[in-house]
Formats: sequence, structure tokens, C-alpha cells
Amino acid sequence: MSFLIKDAKNHIGQDVELKGWVFNKRSSGSIIFLQIRDGSGCIQAVIAKNEVSSESFNEAEKLIEESTIIAMGQIKEEPRSPYGFEMQIKDLKIISLSSEFPISKKEHGINFLLSLRHLWLRSQRQWAILRIRNQIINAINEFLQKEDYIKLDAPIITPAACEGTTTLFPVDYFGNKTFLSQSGQLYLEAGIASFGKCYDFGPTFRAEKSKTKRHLTEFWMMDAEAAFMEFNELLELEEKMIYYIIQEVLKNCKEELKIIERDTIPLEQIKLPFERLSYQETITKLQELGSDIKYGEDLGNDDETILMTHFKQPLFITKFPSTFKAFYFKRDSKDSNLTLSSDLLAPEGYGEVTGGGQREDDYQILLNRMNEEKLNIKDYEWYLDLRKYGSCPHSGFGLGLERIVAWICKLEHVRESIPFPRTIYRFTP
Ligand code: 4AD
Ligand code: MG
Repeated sequence: MSFLIKDAKNHIGQDVELKGWVFNKRSSGSIIFLQIRDGSGCIQAVIAKNEVSSESFNEAEKLIEESTIIAMGQIKEEPRSPYGFEMQIKDLKIISLSSEFPISKKEHGINFLLSLRHLWLRSQRQWAILRIRNQIINAINEFLQKEDYIKLDAPIITPAACEGTTTLFPVDYFGNKTFLSQSGQLYLEAGIASFGKCYDFGPTFRAEKSKTKRHLTEFWMMDAEAAFMEFNELLELEEKMIYYIIQEVLKNCKEELKIIERDTIPLEQIKLPFERLSYQETITKLQELGSDIKYGEDLGNDDETILMTHFKQPLFITKFPSTFKAFYFKRDSKDSNLTLSSDLLAPEGYGEVTGGGQREDDYQILLNRMNEEKLNIKDYEWYLDLRKYGSCPHSGFGLGLERIVAWICKLEHVRESIPFPRTIYRFTP
């Protein structure tokens, strides 16, 4: 019978076969206590000299941390154990005796841990964070599928920039110059004329020279796009989705949140609708809070932190000036210097987690805008076609997965929110 530790409560009194890794061992001569994990959870196992064969006990004595084993034994309830259950081992076999594990219980520096990321992933904390990440991915897919969005996978290798030309990673494509995708948005804009609503979810790349706690060079983005969706409806969709993600994590990741010692009260207190401030109101607010930002400037990381230490709920900043926003945003009909754009900022000091807006749907205005930006129109002909053949008002947004994970797990740095982080100085392991 195949057994998983997470199902221990259904096997009380039964003999089961457990396959896993020993991550801790304590011995009092004739009794050995093993902490074992199998991927689904952890359990304490006890092996007593006078209750097993001498072969089994010898194996247990030889064990060192991170060795793999098969243990046969009985599951018991054990209220004193942090896991609630214990296994009384009857038979034990070593599958692979580990070499001495380089990561110990003592504190290690972050660079050491990142160079050993392939081994660090096994720690309980990393296990918990990456399971929460998995739950967030599931919640995003579930939410969008329920809202009738079709997953349309955007390409990774692209001929043109979506988010400005300064952060492109070039790829030599059989002699042609192409780039790693910064966002699948432009392809989803093509998708909406076929599917109405669609989304992608995949790796995106930015050659960001920034060394902040919020920037990776490879990160996962979900882009969603919908035909006939106007700006205000977009904000409603975004907040509904973020709220759904938080509820799913609170409901399904109780153990993981406990392991990482996340105070869940700020998450439990999040309510709909989220607050909305225009860019102009945000600048005034920031100046009140002591920032030296001036009207016309983009928010820096510090501004986001100041703002989101003040606000306890997620906050939409809307209608940024066109001067520092991408070419595709539609202008506000009330003030053509402003765009129908928005960033969603997360509380507890976290800052931007999504960015989106309504798209320019007029061929000529879009073309003028692209010329102003000195984009190579030839690379975007296919994109301009979308305004020639059945254009429609439409909106969409992009969600940075690692930013959401970092906020929900309250991580110090975004690098812990992804299995193998890529930053300006790190592309291994
Ligand atoms: O705000 P951004 O640049 O928006 C876009 O790329 C749009 N094309 C999306 C769309 O409208 N479909 O990026 C979207 C989100 C940001 O809000 C942020 O959460 C995340 O992606 N992000 C990053 N995450 C980690 N490291 C980086 N270097 C990031 N850059 C953006
Ligand atoms: Mg942005």
C-alpha cells in the first residue's frame, strides 16, 4: 500500500510502508528517534533496539541526515509530537546513505544558501513557501477559468518589446535578432478577437540592473486580457482575483502559513473593494507622508514602501501620466496627458503586484504613439493589424507571481518566492 505522511490520520493502528528522507536523528542508545519527510509532510519515527531485527537497528545507527530510507511500521497518534503522529518502526532499510549535508541547523548567509538552492529547497520553510506558491498558481487558474478566460500560451521568443527597449534580453535566432518575452500582453490582444477573454501564465524576462528586493530577471507573469472590458471593470476583475487568491491560501495553506510564522490577521482583514487613488492624489499623499516625489515622476521603490506602510489595504493607483507609461495605453478622455492605467500595490510595505489598463484601440492614435516612442513599426505590423481588423475597446493586466508570493508569505526578498531565482548577479544553480 502506498502511504503518504499527510494521510497519517487515516492509518492509525495500521502498518504502512514509508519512503522518504531522514532530516534529523536523535539517539538514546537503545532508542533512535528519526524525523522523516516524504514530500507530503513530516513525521517522527521511533526505532527500539529490542523490538526490531539487529539488521534494522544497525541501519538506523548508520543513518545520517538526508539519507533515503524505506521504513515499515505502525502509525500511532502522538499528541506530544508537533506532527500529531508517530511511527513505530518494525523494519528499516537504507536506500541511499547521504554524504554529510552542507546545510545545518545553524544560521547560514544568504549567498551560501542561494548557491545551494538545489539543497536548500528541502528545508521546511522553503517547502512551505513553494507550496503556497503552488496554491496561488492554482487559485489564479481556477479563478480565471470560472470567469470564462481561455489560457492562451504566449511565445517566449519574440521579435518586439512590450515593456520598453531598455530591459530586453537578446536572443540570436539563427542570425536574426529576437528577445525573451517581457510580457505576453500583445499576443493576448490578438487572442481576444478569437476567444473574447484569455490569459497566459509563464516565465517573463527583464534585463533589470536593479538590485532591489522586488526585482528578478526571470519571473512568472499572468497576463489577462478581455474584449469590451473598460477600465473600471478591469479594476473590479483584478481586486476580485486577488481577494480570491488570499481566501484560497488562508483556507488551504494553514500548515504552511504556520511553518513560515506568517501573521495572517492582515490578510484576513483584507476586504473588497480595494481603495483607489489617482496618480495626482497619490503624489499629494506621498508628499504628506514625507516623500520628495514631484508631479510627473514615476513612483520609486521607496515611495511604494512609504505608501504601503501607511495603507493597510491593497491600493490601486490609477491614471498615470503618459510620459512614463508604455505606448499601448489608451488616453483618458477627460485629460489626454493621462493614461487609463493602474498599478495595484500590496500593503505591509510590499508595493506593486499588478500593472494594467485599457488599451489604445484606434489605429491612427496607436501608430502616432509608436512613432513618438521611435519603435520600429515593422516589428509591430501584426499588432497594428489588430486595430485594422475588428478593433474593440479592451483592457488587461499583468500579475507578478513572485511579488504576490512575497507579500502573502511576507518574505524579506522576492528571491525566496521562486524555486531557482535569477537576479543580476545570479544564474546558478
Ligand atoms: O507592470 P508590468 O511591467 O506590466 C506589464 O508587463 C504589462 N504588459 C502587463 C499587462 O498589462 N498584461 O509587469 C506586470 C507585473 C508587475 O506589476 C510586477 O508584479 C511584475 O509583473 N514584475 C516583476 N516581478 C519581479 N521582477 C521584476 N523584474 C518584475 N517586473 C515586473
Ligand atoms: Mg508596472
